[in-house]
Amino acid sequence: MHSFQVCLFVVLTGRFSVLAHSFVSNININGLSYDGFRPTEPDTHTFSIGWSTTAFDQGYVNQTGYQTEEIICHRGAKNAKGHAPVSAGGIVHIQWNGWPQSHKGPVLDYLASCGKSCETVDKDALRFFKINQVGLVDGSEAPGLWGSDQLIANNNSWMVEIPQRIQPGYYVLRTEIISLHNASREIGAQNYPQCINLQITGDGAEAPLGTLGKELYDPDDPSMHLDIYDGVSTYNIPGPTLISGVETVTLSHPLPTGSGTPLTEFVISVAPSPTAI
Ligand SMILES: *[C@@H]1O[C@H](CO)[C@@H](O)[C@H](O)[C@H]1NC(C)=O
Ligand SMILES: *[C@@H]1O[C@H](CO)[C@@H](O)[C@H](O)[C@H]1NC(C)=O
Ligand SMILES: *[C@@H]1O[C@H](CO)[C@@H](O)[C@H](O)[C@H]1NC(C)=O
Repeated sequence: MHSFQVCLFVVLTGRFSVLAHSFVSNININGLSYDGFRPTEPDTHTFSIGWSTTAFDQGYVNQTGYQTEEIICHRGAKNAKGHAPVSAGGIVHIQWNGWPQSHKGPVLDYLASCGKSCETVDKDALRFFKINQVGLVDGSEAPGLWGSDQLIANNNSWMVEIPQRIQPGYYVLRTEIISLHNASREIGAQNYPQCINLQITGDGAEAPLGTLGKELYDPDDPSMHLDIYDGVSTYNIPGPTLISGVETVTLSHPLPTGSGTPLTEFVISVAPSPTAI
């Protein structure tokens, strides 16, 4: 009886750790809390600034997904129906719905310009440039202290500064945790990307060149193939290099004072031009 209970416990917790990971539940900007897409309540898609996904298991994208649509904004992602305003130099506070202590690895943030609208842009065309990254913070004791540990210590939340001199416009913010706890296995790294629509205001002029989502990561990158329990002394964070002139924000946990309503652009439908006879 007793050993049966122990066994059942192991089976259940093992199953839980495979099935339930996490997602971004809220995005706080300027004291206002905007809804993320919650796979536990898919109806949030209607008023969210987070792209919807079909990752209802709250799971991840593995290396076989690096050259597919999955890696861009997670599996089956569809454009968020609204966006939140933020000024260049402003801070976006990203609240995750918890994060497992065991899922250690880097945290990365990218922006991609949407052109006229992030609500209608084709995700395959988005070119992402990296604006923030935290990898191995302290490797003195295996499995090390990682960006993911800082995120957990900050009430499962993350902060990113919008570059000061970025050109104003509509952008997708792609925030991601890469968990390395199983990266010693053949297809073992786990990417958890989440996309958020922003309208960046300001008078900057920089428009960094980005990388297509499907070209961000190499499935054979040694940084996706390692055993963190063996001890890691240095770690090259995957993906393109950070753009210049960006600041890493000291993490804190400001509580929002109200709810933000996502904005939508007025989409002008162009009438077909009359055919010349
Ligand atoms: C990797 O992801 C694909 C697509 O989501 C899935 O079909 C496959 O089973 C996964 N492979 C492993 C080894 O987890
Ligand atoms: C942690 O985050 C949760 C969810 O957003 C929030 O309700 C709670 O007040 C936060 N705790 C602290 C100490 O900031
Ligand atoms: C680790 O990765 C392998 C694929 O190489 C997969 O079959 C297994 O389920 C993964 N284990 C965990 C705990 O994620």
